[in-house]
Amino acid sequence: MGIRTLEWDSEWLGLRVGSVDPGVSLPDEKELKEFDLVYFFRDPSDKKGLSWMARHQMEPIDRRLEYLLELKTSSTSSSVPELYERGEYDEKLIELGETSFEWSRFKRDSRIGDSKFRLLYRQWMEASLNNKLSDAVFVQKDEQEQIAGFAVVKIQEQKSFLVLLAVANAQRNKGWGKALVKKAAAFAISKGAISMSLLTQFENRAARHFFEGLGFQIKSQVNIYHFWTDEHTL
Ligand SMILES: CC(C)(COP(=O)(O)OP(=O)(O)OC[C@H]1O[C@@H](n2cnc3c(N)ncnc32)[C@H](O)[C@@H]1OP(=O)(O)O)[C@@H](O)C(=O)NCCC(=O)NCCS
Repeated sequence: MGIRTLEWDSEWLGLRVGSVDPGVSLPDEKELKEFDLVYFFRDPSDKKGLSWMARHQMEPIDRRLEYLLELKTSSTSSSVPELYERGEYDEKLIELGETSFEWSRFKRDSRIGDSKFRLLYRQWMEASLNNKLSDAVFVQKDEQEQIAGFAVVKIQEQKSFLVLLAVANAQRNKGWGKALVKKAAAFAISKGAISMSLLTQFENRAARHFFEGLGFQIKSQVNIYHFWTDEHTL
């Protein structure tokens, strides 16, 4: 079957949610009717996929970019930065997570709604702080000891992933984001990682400029579509 049922997303939205993963063949009408919402992941060079989307009047909700940086020991301080320990700042960090990712496809999809969106990010933040989704969380405070931003890092063998990175709106463009990526990279190197990757959106110009300025390069792109079956002619 082409559509994979997403248990977690189905529970979160209270709907039947599925995914057509990259490279997986396009579903037929009968299959689609078994779902309320289907995420389609398509390579931008997949002509058959693009014409299927055009036929259904679908525009990508996210042109997702994967960025990669090769980590060089010499370019980063060898000292391991201090990790965030759960405690007094948890709620502030969760709030920052709930309000920072305006380019997320779950935010841009008006059918999902703000309260579901916040719940999603609350759960990701909780899972990050519990180290279920992460190996480390770094926090950046400003001169007044207020939370300016955070970074969440995951390590898998020699690869590291910047799972989440956010700086509060009023604190942007002051160098905090850069400082957080440096901390994350130093930690990853100390754990034996040789690369760091992350996902962001083509439309997120600030993030693209930011990561490219730090030497990250685009490794891949995938177009993501949200197909609501009651909205589209099958
Ligand atoms: C991306 C983000 C983390 C950058 O944090 P920041 O603290 O504002 O970034 P810094 O001040 O450290 O900036 C570092 C560099 O990025 C560039 N940059 C930052 N924001 C930029 C913007 N809006 N437009 C263009 N360039 C930008 C700066 O020019 C700076 O370069 P410089 O050191 O040569 O001057 C922040 O904008 C953010 O939290 N965005 C929302 C969440 C997000 O998109 N996360 C990332 C991917 S999911």
